[in-house]
Amino acid sequence: MRCVVDAFLELRERAATCTRCELSATRTQVVFGTGHTGSSLVVVGEAPGEQEDVRGEPFVGRSGTLLRRVLSEETGVDPDDCCIVNVVKCRPPGNRDPRPAEVAACRPWLDEQFEVVDPSVVLTVGNFASRLLLNTREGITQLRGRSYPWRSAHLVPTLHPAAVLRGGAAAMERFRSDVRLAGSLLPGAAA
Ligand code: URA
Repeated sequence: MRCVVDAFLELRERAATCTRCELSATRTQVVFGTGHTGSSLVVVGEAPGEQEDVRGEPFVGRSGTLLRRVLSEETGVDPDDCCIVNVVKCRPPGNRDPRPAEVAACRPWLDEQFEVVDPSVVLTVGNFASRLLLNTREGITQLRGRSYPWRSAHLVPTLHPAAVLRGGAAAMERFRSDVRLAGSLLPGAAA
């Protein structure tokens, strides 16, 4: 019997022992991300927090529950079939912002994730991931509400689910509308 090993999982194995930056000294584990090679939608957040560092999975708290619910409701895609990753794979101590050197050290892992998954749509959540991938200093309020051509995919920037939880009904409606837009750009989506 032929054993097909998913390239995404192979990459995760390699990343598990990464020591490319100082975050490796303080993390519990590398939070590589969920998904598989065929995922057509990649969600990109900032960095793991305390709960993610312990559990080894991205977006496991209240913001993760919201993210997965809205993904499912607005795109019809099972969140387990999406690839959910962060720009930086290890928790910055005290949940500070990742430093430029940490982002640079981790970037090859993110790029390899995009290479092996080859998504049709990339949903960046929050300022950090959106600014990095779109290479801009514009804030999410200006960037969101439309899609951008990005490599061979469509990139849709949206609010971070943690900001949606704080932002009330208006933030929720913007978030839903951006996720719906991302869903409409997936292969096979109704026009
Ligand atoms: N915020 C993020 O950006 N990523 C996580 O994994 C958790 C919270």
